[in-house]
Amino acid sequence: MLVVIKKDYEEVSREAARIVAGAVRSNSQIVLGLATGSTPLGLYKELIALHRAGDLDFSQATSFNLDEYLGLPAFHPQSFHFFMKQNFFSHVNFPSGNVHIPDGTISRNYDEYCAQYEQSIKAHGGIDLQILGIGRNGHVGFNEPTSSLASRTRLKALSRETVEDNRHSFSNDSEVPKCAITMGIGTILDSRRVLLLASGRSKAAAVAKAIEGPITSSVSASALQMHADVTFIIDEDAAYSLTQRDYYRHVLEMTQIFTPERLS
Ligand code: F6R
Repeated sequence: MLVVIKKDYEEVSREAARIVAGAVRSNSQIVLGLATGSTPLGLYKELIALHRAGDLDFSQATSFNLDEYLGLPAFHPQSFHFFMKQNFFSHVNFPSGNVHIPDGTISRNYDEYCAQYEQSIKAHGGIDLQILGIGRNGHVGFNEPTSSLASRTRLKALSRETVEDNRHSFSNDSEVPKCAITMGIGTILDSRRVLLLASGRSKAAAVAKAIEGPITSSVSASALQMHADVTFIIDEDAAYSLTQRDYYRHVLEMTQIFTPERLS
């Protein structure tokens, strides 16, 4: 595990974009796992800027999004389909046929649909690089606390905390989603490389538990400790509760000297 501590959100976004852009350049047919939410917005902005500058080509890339709210059609402004189009896909040359986001409008045969999503990831050769944010309760994707660490893509009830976090985005209380389709923790752990981004003091407790706490289903992100190639890119505020900050800085320095390719 590599923990990269940056000054602020802008630096986190730039560093994440540097790594993602490097991965896309070295493998034009890359399969990206993508996240929504406020955290990756800066990353998407940076990637869009690189694309506009002629420095980044997504014409052969494929993507699988982590999750989608159940009950929201793609045109709903709070859907993750809408988010991805608005904040990334409509600004870059990602072929629409290569974009995969769980369908929030299905109303039956959930298990079959989710198994197909898994199958499709497999058929594309698996996810090369998975981008993650982290919830205040330590969720990744919508793997809420007590999710099985071996879970696969499935329908998942959202926790009270997540529903509350989302409430402000919906004008009508009855519209606030209570369930989502999400990749499982097992699905995420199958990715070849994982980048988790976090910013702000509100994430500090979850980040510390994920990196330094015991591996537990109470903190889904702690399962990433079992992944052989995970990089946390976090700002000083999100790093606030880590006890080993000096050691992470030392490891990073050594990595830059001995295995700089790990960072590109
Ligand atoms: C989004 C997702 C979630 C978010 C998490 C953090 O696709 O799967 O796990 O990454 O809720 O959200 P933000 O970045 O809005 O704090």
